[in-house]
Amino acid sequence: MSKEQLIIFDTTLRDGEQSPGASMTKEEKLRIARQLERMRVDVIEAGFPAASNGDFEAVRAVAETIKDSTVAGLCRAFDKDIARALEAVKPAKSGRIHTFIATSPIHMEKKLRMSPDDVLVAAQHAVRFARNGIGDVEFSCEDAGRSDLDFLCRIIEAVIKEGASTINIPDTVGYNVPEQYAERIRQLRERIPNSDKVVWSVHCHNDLGLAVANSLAAVMAGARQVECTINGLGERAGNAALEEIVMAVHTRQDVFPCITRIDTTQIVAASKMVSSITGFPVQPNKAIVGANAFAHESGIHQDGVLKHRETYEIMRAEDVGWNANKLVLGKHSGRTAFKARLKELGIEVESEQVLNVAFTHFKELADKKHEIFDEDLHALMSDEMVPPD
Ligand code: KIV
Ligand code: ZN
Repeated sequence: MSKEQLIIFDTTLRDGEQSPGASMTKEEKLRIARQLERMRVDVIEAGFPAASNGDFEAVRAVAETIKDSTVAGLCRAFDKDIARALEAVKPAKSGRIHTFIATSPIHMEKKLRMSPDDVLVAAQHAVRFARNGIGDVEFSCEDAGRSDLDFLCRIIEAVIKEGASTINIPDTVGYNVPEQYAERIRQLRERIPNSDKVVWSVHCHNDLGLAVANSLAAVMAGARQVECTINGLGERAGNAALEEIVMAVHTRQDVFPCITRIDTTQIVAASKMVSSITGFPVQPNKAIVGANAFAHESGIHQDGVLKHRETYEIMRAEDVGWNANKLVLGKHSGRTAFKARLKELGIEVESEQVLNVAFTHFKELADKKHEIFDEDLHALMSDEMVPPD
């Protein structure tokens, strides 16, 4: 039986860009959008057209260029914002309006200064207005993670009646924990009429480092769209990292009831592109895309991986776009990895005795340096091989 599809909605160009210091030009957004399309992302949220003329132009350019992904524009629940977003996504082969309004008591009272009833009317009106201009409308309840469940049920039921086809439940401030968030999704799906006619989407922020865990828990509870960003870029501590969501689902097909259509071999290229355009480095130990994600330093691990890679690897480096895994030589490395690297470098060692002496010298050097590079090995071995006077 074929599995249901998990829709990957990338918001690197919108929420990712809201990361302080990460703003992008139109050309930069276009380059990233092309890479996202190559990676077979289902929906690319290209920006917030009402935010500035520059962002309007960028969303429009992405809409004109991208053919294989849906292009979404974000807008508040105001006619003016929605009209601007409609204009920006108009050239898209497949376009979407993503409109939102806050639904938590603190946002409604302190930020919007609106009563829940007025918020409900504004949401209904926004979805109706958007649906007059386009067939694909997503509605988000901002700060849904801290909203009252009964009120969420009322407002979501109302916007579904107006024609919203994707309902997004953002954990805007990253406050939820996995079980609680999954339960929220389950309850909404159970309580709202026609809930099986819409796609349930999740959008998690990483303030407690739980964005990926919360998103995946929600997928187990029936969410079929995950909103995420490359390298987890985004407001404050960021959004759920696309690469982690996708690889968790692909690697653990034994537990997930769905699959994405992402070409995972494009992940590292996308990560490097976003990092170089924004100037945000990727930490070395970052899952999937960090330089050390497939590197082994300790002798025990290196020996294991050389005997069978699955002893210490649950994914193949090549499957996410790295050339290969890496055995890094350092003070914890063993003789097996040392010997294997010399062989790779074409350095022939004439006897076991020379190898033993060289390995001792290698360990002495490794105590003084974080990492031993190939050049260090060439230098070390040329000293070992020099015949004594
Ligand atoms: O975090 C959030 O609530 C958002 C919405 C606008 C979807 O980014
Ligand atoms: Zn967000």
